[in-house]
Amino acid sequence: MGRSSKDKRDIYYRLAKEEGWRARSAFKLLQLDEEYHLFQGVSRAVDLCAAPGSWSQVLSRKLKGDGAKNSDVKIVAVDLQAMAPLPGVIQIQGDITKVSTAQEIIRHFEGQPADLVVCDGAPDVTGLHDIDEYIQAQLLLAALNITTHVLKKGGTFVAKIFRGKDVTLLYSQLRIFFPDVTCAKPRSSRNSSIGFPNVIGAVDCTHVAICAPREEPQVYRNRHRFYSINVQAACDHQGIFTDLVAKFPGSVHDAQIFTTSGLNRLLSSWPEGRGWLLGDRGYPLLPYLLTPYPADEPADRANYNQAHRRTRMVIKRAFEAFAVCRNYCPPEGYVPNMSNPLLDHCYDVDFNQLEGPNRVIVPFLACGDLSAYDSDRTYPLQLDPEKQYSYVPPTQPPIHPPYEEACFLKKHNLLSKEPTPQPQQPAAPGDPPQQQEDGALLPPCEDELVNALEELSAGPGGRG
Ligand SMILES: C[S@@+](CC[C@H](N)C(=O)[O-])C[C@H]1O[C@@H](n2cnc3c(N)ncnc32)[C@H](O)[C@@H]1O
Repeated sequence: MGRSSKDKRDIYYRLAKEEGWRARSAFKLLQLDEEYHLFQGVSRAVDLCAAPGSWSQVLSRKLKGDGAKNSDVKIVAVDLQAMAPLPGVIQIQGDITKVSTAQEIIRHFEGQPADLVVCDGAPDVTGLHDIDEYIQAQLLLAALNITTHVLKKGGTFVAKIFRGKDVTLLYSQLRIFFPDVTCAKPRSSRNSSIGFPNVIGAVDCTHVAICAPREEPQVYRNRHRFYSINVQAACDHQGIFTDLVAKFPGSVHDAQIFTTSGLNRLLSSWPEGRGWLLGDRGYPLLPYLLTPYPADEPADRANYNQAHRRTRMVIKRAFEAFAVCRNYCPPEGYVPNMSNPLLDHCYDVDFNQLEGPNRVIVPFLACGDLSAYDSDRTYPLQLDPEKQYSYVPPTQPPIHPPYEEACFLKKHNLLSKEPTPQPQQPAAPGDPPQQQEDGALLPPCEDELVNALEELSAGPGGRG
């Protein structure tokens, strides 16, 4: 693959390098700011889950100006991973679920609360959808918990969410602390595509919560014990929705929705082998609908299952968005703590008794104006007729990535069970560095190692 091929495929990856951002995620925060003016009047900001640091760069440039000069402004960045230093940004290598991290943030602010907390946190994905979605929701709630320790009344909290089946619960928990909660999708928030041959898309269902209907409420009660419409969505390799069915109550099984859908009728009329849709184990195996094997054995099935999981992540990522929560206002008498019950499904029962103004529909906003680049399009390398394209290397490779040990093992040929005497080929001088799925940047020798790691891991391993 040529050094510029990713520059063509991913416009925000390319712009990030050209503008000196450490990751393409920078554009998400910039586009959120265009819509919400997040940085107005902010002098103390916290970046949770900050590595490799592009959101901290945005905070620094926007709040301190070029050269990070304004000393009245303080920015604290927290991540489990070490981050290369950034001028004007105080770094904490720590866990956002720990109260000690909250205390350290406050110490850096000399006892003052923050005006703004942002969190682009993403756990390492396992590829097992329900677990990934649950862990992501837990991370968001951990971010909310730590935010209640450090944010000033009236302050703003911005956090990444996945609009999956627990999203209504998440919103209602956010609404306890913020009267103003919006769901926003920046134009640069990407839907990635990972290859599985001849796939036309992926299909899945998600439960959209509703108030218990007066007639036959039990029909609307789903296996997660809340009332919902079970919505089937299909999306293509770029995460663009191609089919939606939103008429079945929560108790109807995903497979039944698919079987009765127009999509099924259409695909069953296609000649065999024209293309496949991917679905999870809840779906029937059909000539045009591929489902995973029940077990990852033997090796060829494990490979198939891994490719299947990775490709199906597309539809999950199409649901990525950001919760923008303004005007922090904790309930009277609330004492911040780190052990709030998070995502307890028993909560659903009471929640579903609520009606009228007590049930809130969170507004959804697409941000980044229509003239902004579309993250799902491929652009020519020559963007500006006046300016010759030239390849720009990544801004800052991660310094101690979690795959460091595996890189070492791979480099010294220690990954294979049977040692092979082949010497390692060093990277050719001038080979371009590569970038991770989330836009974090890798030096050339690590690319091969990361590929090896991805082979080893069950999930897609991409972040953000
Ligand atoms: C998508 S990356 C963030 C990208 C970053 N916003 C940027 O623009 O460069 C997600 C980060 O979340 C961090 N993370 C996940 N769980 C965490 C936790 N419990 N505490 C701190 N950081 C965490 C990961 O280490 C990872 O660096």
